[in-house]
Amino acid sequence: MDEETLKNAAREYQTPLYVYDGDLIVSRYREFAKAVASIGSKSRVFYAVKANSSLAILDLLRREGSSVDCVSGGEIACALKVGFKPHDILFTSNSKTREEIASAVSAGVNITCGNTEELDVVSEVCAEAGESARVSFRVNPDVDAKTHPKIATGLRDTKFGVHFEGDIAFNAYKRASELEGIDVVGLHAHIGSQITDASSFVESCEKLFEFALRLKNELGMQLEFIDVGGGVGIAYKKDDKPLSPEEYAKALEPAVKAGVESLGYEPTLYFEPGRYIVGPAGVLLCSVNSVKETPSKKFVNVDAGFNTLTRPAMYDAYHRATVLGKKGESETYDIAGNVCESGDILARDRALPKVVRDDIIIFHDAGAYGMSMASEYNMRALPAEVLVKDGVTHLIRERGTQEDLYRKQKTI
Ligand SMILES: Cc1ncc(COP(=O)(O)O)c(C=O)c1O
Repeated sequence: MDEETLKNAAREYQTPLYVYDGDLIVSRYREFAKAVASIGSKSRVFYAVKANSSLAILDLLRREGSSVDCVSGGEIACALKVGFKPHDILFTSNSKTREEIASAVSAGVNITCGNTEELDVVSEVCAEAGESARVSFRVNPDVDAKTHPKIATGLRDTKFGVHFEGDIAFNAYKRASELEGIDVVGLHAHIGSQITDASSFVESCEKLFEFALRLKNELGMQLEFIDVGGGVGIAYKKDDKPLSPEEYAKALEPAVKAGVESLGYEPTLYFEPGRYIVGPAGVLLCSVNSVKETPSKKFVNVDAGFNTLTRPAMYDAYHRATVLGKKGESETYDIAGNVCESGDILARDRALPKVVRDDIIIFHDAGAYGMSMASEYNMRALPAEVLVKDGVTHLIRERGTQEDLYRKQKTI
């Protein structure tokens, strides 16, 4: 997106403001879908809604033919609202309420169980409603995704999935195959996010196929799909070298080919990219409230904080920061958020042109896990969002209001 577009958006809708490039979202989706289709097996892409759950973005991806991976009843409701069909939705939370399960069963959404007790609830709900459910399990493949520990999800000690160890996963499938109303359709693993090392994906994929073979040999089970999850990383720093979708697909291809051959049938491959599709397509614009020099540092105080962009405080994540309309690197600043916590530093030790009050700072690559993680902490209303598509800037979420902050509350 060019600077003029960003300047106009900030002027019209104020800051903090998330701005998304709809054309880039579409092209990244297409590139990913094309690359995974080239593996040679049937494939489907389930965009991970948690990365950015704004309805206009979901709708854009639906129109491109994407399906969706949801982790809550709320995400499912959003997906249904924009027109996704229940059978194009996966429900993958690690901890689902009975109500969420009942709604998913009655809607006909695919349910990915994370433990066997959850399977029991699905089965009870099905029996009560006289319905059946399409079920798979998320397994814990014990694979090191070589990413930040807080976004590694496939290691033995993480909370996710049923483990191969101790035959927990095998017994879960055996039990599922015996229960009334349970239609076992797939097998899933998601080992983490912002992964740049192909070998982790390959190891997980191999383990999934090995396990599918065991299910076939010992339970006579033939799966409709194998879901290899999401996790493809993006470049946050200039020198980051993430996998391209083509490199990712090429890396998986031998494992898939060998897996399909040994299975003797061809499950559809499911992919759940989130960050890859939307991350680089979004920026956060915020305004400079003041610039402050201390004996040790220069701080740029902006009108956003970790309630607006959580990743730096939560994961020590790095977002490239630039100043709208300015070039050069004459000063070094910390960019401080407006949340009353000393951990609320959005960027540390950044070389920027001289910054003055009312400048606009652009945080780049903020399209994923930006707005979807935003909160009203410190009683600040949620930011607005705009989507630029075919040269037109659309307001897709109005800025929150102060009334939003107390609308659902009452004093006693
Ligand atoms: C089950 C599942 N699938 C897919 C994703 C998307 O991951 P990413 O945005 O890294 O592609 C996540 C993210 O945490 C997830 O938990």
